Amino acid sequence: MLAPLRRFVQSPNPFMNGHAIGLTRSAASSPRRWLRLLLMIAFIAISVNLLLLLDSTFVGKLPSQILGNQAFHPKPFAPAPHGLESQGDSNGQDYWLWETKTLFKKKENIDWNVGIMDECFLFPRDIFNKVQVVLKTGTADDGARTDAMVNTIIKCIRNVLIVSDGDHTYGPHKAVDVLADLPAKTYMKEEDYFVYETQRNATRDGIELHQGHEGWKIDKYKFLPGVEKAIEHNSKAKWYVFLESDTYLFWDNIFRLLDNYDPSLPYFFGSPSPGRKYRPNPKSEDEEQVWFAYGGCGFILSTAAAHRLVDLPRNRLGVKGPRLTAEYEEDIRNDCCGDSILGWALHDKAAVGISGLWPMFNPHRLEDVPFGRDYWCEPVISLHKTNPSFMKELWNWENEQHQQHERPLLYSDLLFSFHSNFSQRENWDAAFDAGFQLDHNSTVHTSLHACEAGCFAHEECRQYTWHGAHCYYAKALYIGHAKEPDGFHEPEDRKYISGWDITKIQTWSLENTCGEGAHWVKPSVKRKY
Ligand SMILES: *[C@@H]1O[C@H](CO)[C@@H](O)[C@H](O)[C@H]1NC(C)=O
Ligand SMILES: *[C@@H]1O[C@H](CO)[C@@H](O)[C@H](O)[C@H]1NC(C)=O
Ligand SMILES: *[C@@H]1O[C@H](CO)[C@@H](O)[C@H](O)[C@H]1NC(C)=O
Repeated sequence: MLAPLRRFVQSPNPFMNGHAIGLTRSAASSPRRWLRLLLMIAFIAISVNLLLLLDSTFVGKLPSQILGNQAFHPKPFAPAPHGLESQGDSNGQDYWLWETKTLFKKKENIDWNVGIMDECFLFPRDIFNKVQVVLKTGTADDGARTDAMVNTIIKCIRNVLIVSDGDHTYGPHKAVDVLADLPAKTYMKEEDYFVYETQRNATRDGIELHQGHEGWKIDKYKFLPGVEKAIEHNSKAKWYVFLESDTYLFWDNIFRLLDNYDPSLPYFFGSPSPGRKYRPNPKSEDEEQVWFAYGGCGFILSTAAAHRLVDLPRNRLGVKGPRLTAEYEEDIRNDCCGDSILGWALHDKAAVGISGLWPMFNPHRLEDVPFGRDYWCEPVISLHKTNPSFMKELWNWENEQHQQHERPLLYSDLLFSFHSNFSQRENWDAAFDAGFQLDHNSTVHTSLHACEAGCFAHEECRQYTWHGAHCYYAKALYIGHAKEPDGFHEPEDRKYISGWDITKIQTWSLENTCGEGAHWVKPSVKRKY
C-alpha cells in the first residue's frame, strides 16, 4: 500500500493525474510544507489501510465509486483466440475434424466385478483436479431431479461444487448458499429477498418446498457468486464447467473438446444467446450486441477467463477494486436473467466474449432436438430440461456406448438409439407446432392418409403430425413425445398421430454417414439456435 504512494512523492510525474502533479510542484518550494505533506500522506495511507482492513461491502465498493469501475478493468486484452487460423486445419468448413481420444477406461482392460464396481471405475476421475464442476440448484429443487443428477452426471465427481440459495443437502453433497454473504438482505430486491427468506424459514421449520415455488425469481442472483465460489473452492482448476440440475452433460465429449483448447487463454464456451446492447464508441450511436451462454445447457470458463472475472484487480496505485458481485449488483437487480449478466460482466470487466459452440451445446430437450442438417455429425455436449427418468436412461446408454466404440457420440447416434423405429404412432406428437403447414385449402388436411401421402410427396417434409383434422409437417426430425388426445375437436380428431418419411430419412443417413469424423464446430455467434 505504501510503496506506490512513496513513489508518487519522489518522482515528479510517474503516472499521476494533473491534480497530483500540481501538489508535488508547489510542495517542493519549502521544506516545512514538504514535511506537512509527508505527514498528511502518511495519515491518509494509514487510514486507507485501516479502511481496507475493515472488509465490509461498503469499503469494498468505495474505490470503484470514487474512481469508477473502469479503473479496475485490466483492459485492453487481446481478442479471444479463435481465429480460424489459430487451429491449423482449414477445411473451408465451420468445423474441425479432430482426432480425439476417450479418457474412459474399457471394461475389458480391468478386472470387472459387477456388484463391487460401478461405472465410476471406468470414469476418468483424475481429471477433476483440472476440471472443476459447478452445479447450480435451488432449495426447492425437485427431489426426483436431484436423485437423477446425483446418480448420473455428478455420480463420479467427488469434488463437485453445489451452489444454491440455501444450505441444504444434495444427495451425498452439501449445497452452499452463495447468497448468504452478499449479503442477501441488502443485495437483493425486497420482493426477491422475501422469497429467499420464505424458503429459509420453510427449511428451518421442516416445511417441504416445491419446484417452481418462486425459486426461479432468485436464480439470477446465483450466477456471479457461483463463479466466485468456484474459484474459492478450486483456484487451480484449468476449466470450470457450469451446469443446472436438469442439464445432461456428455463428459466424454467435454473432455475431448477441452483437450483441444488451451486453458491459459480466455475461453467462454456455450450456446450463444443475444444479450445486452452497448456502444463501443461513446461518440457514435452504433450499438453492438453482447452474447451470453444460455445457462440451461451449461457453459465452460477457462481458468484465464474465470480469474479475469473474479480476481480482485488492483489499479495502478495498488488499490483493490470491488468484488465482482458488488460491481454488478445493480445490473443483477435490474436484469431478468443471471446468464445474461454473466455474459455482460465477462465482456465488460474481463473483455471475454463467448466462443459459441452451438449446436454441440444444445438448448433443447432430447425429444425436441431438430435432428438433421445442424444436428447430425456434431458431437453432442449437452441436453437441456432432461426429465429424471430420461437422465438415467441416457447415462446407461452413454456408458454402454463408451465400451462399444472409440469415436465421440454424435447427434445421429442419439436419434437412432432413442427412436427405435419410424413407423406411425398414435398418441404421439412429433411435429405439431414445430415446422410448417400447407395452405388451409390443401388436400393434405382432408385425412390422415392424405396428410401422410402429402408429406412423402413434399420435398422438404420429413415427418407429419395429424391432429384436429389438420396436418402439420416438419423439415427436421423430431423424436417427439407421447401426447394424450386433447382440444375442442370431434372425438376422433382429438388424437395426435405422428409418422416419419422413412425413405427420406434413409437417403439422408446414407448421404451423411459422418465417416470423415465428428464435426467439432468452430466458435461462432453467427451459427446459433
Ligand atoms: C421468517 O422467520 C422470521 C423469524 O421467525 C420472521 O421474523 C420472518 O418474518 C419470517 N419471514 C418470512 C418471509 O416469512
Ligand atoms: C415402433 O415403436 C413403437 C413405440 O416404441 C411401438 O409401439 C411399435 O410397436 C414399434 N413398431 C415396430 C414395427 O417395431
Ligand atoms: C387455396 O387458397 C389460396 C388463397 O388462400 C389460393 O391462392 C389457392 O389457389 C387455393 N388453392 C386451391 C388448391 O384451391
